[in-house]
Amino acid sequence: MREQQQSVTVIGLGPMGRAMVGAFLDAGHEVTVWNRTASRADELVARGARRAATVEEALAANELVVLSLTDYDAMYAVLEPATASLNGRILVNLSSDTPDRARAAAEWAAGHGARHLTGGVQSSPSTIGGPDVSTYYSGPKDVFEAHQGTLEVLTGTDYKGEDPGLAALYYQLQMDMFWTGLVSWLHALAVADANGISAEELLPHASETFASMPQFLGFYTPRIDAGEHPGDVDRLAMGVASVAHVLHTTRDAGVDPALPAAMLGIFERGMAGGHAGDSVTSLVEVFREAVAR
Ligand SMILES: NC(=O)c1ccc[n+]([C@@H]2O[C@H](COP(=O)([O-])OP(=O)(O)OC[C@H]3O[C@@H](n4cnc5c(N)ncnc54)[C@H](OP(=O)(O)O)[C@@H]3O)[C@@H](O)[C@H]2O)c1
Repeated sequence: MREQQQSVTVIGLGPMGRAMVGAFLDAGHEVTVWNRTASRADELVARGARRAATVEEALAANELVVLSLTDYDAMYAVLEPATASLNGRILVNLSSDTPDRARAAAEWAAGHGARHLTGGVQSSPSTIGGPDVSTYYSGPKDVFEAHQGTLEVLTGTDYKGEDPGLAALYYQLQMDMFWTGLVSWLHALAVADANGISAEELLPHASETFASMPQFLGFYTPRIDAGEHPGDVDRLAMGVASVAHVLHTTRDAGVDPALPAAMLGIFERGMAGGHAGDSVTSLVEVFREAVAR
């Protein structure tokens, strides 16, 4: 006989919410759903989900409420009119936003008698339903531990601590690296294309470049944590010449130079700051100084 699974409410049925409901249904959970555009629930209802007619009904159905909305503004738009139904609920907020907004939302939820667990989902909808990718969580540890088993139906879990902002912070750090990396690839593709090289032809080289990154990160990380940027294996002055070559190659190809020009500007600030003989990692100090100003 199948073990009784915890029943769950999911609010927000974009691609991510729909994948999550599908995973819960596949794992034998009873799922109540609500979405602003009600028709997005049709297929899930056909698979066994229960459609709530109102947000209040969705909140009343289960203690555990998963939110998968565009951002926290959408969460307030959905929940503000239904705050009377929040008392005693566990809000697992898997909508993306900033750490400060996650902290504010946790306080807001507490003010209405609900407990808020922040989540940062690192994967795409197609990978929901297995442990291969993990989701950052932060907020009350007892809440996380009580519901970890159910949340692991969606993805693996990576609990970062009590501060509700932490999961959002780790998520945004990942996004910082992801977007910068992806956009750099798209830029290189435009330069390649202008020179008659297809994305397919560049693929093995692009893959090799990104695959080499862990080696660089592993080498530089202890030095950065120690605040040391010795110019023994690389120097910023060498880096600035290399970035200038990328900029000129871009311009020669007739491609928008905004990305390498911005990068060159950062390198030049490092040079002006006296880091010419230091490692390229000294740029982290340039970024920190900009924050301090
Ligand atoms: N998709 C991904 O690959 C991915 C990966 C990692 C993390 N995430 C994060 O997961 C969350 C959900 O992703 P998604 O792709 O499913 O997002 P999405 O397509 O933006 O859909 C999210 C849901 O938000 C609802 N919504 C937006 N504004 C609303 C408002 N003002 N009032 C009521 N409902 C509102 C939409 O309702 P309607 O259906 O009525 O428009 C929809 O159900 C986002 O925070 C996203 O950043 C997504």
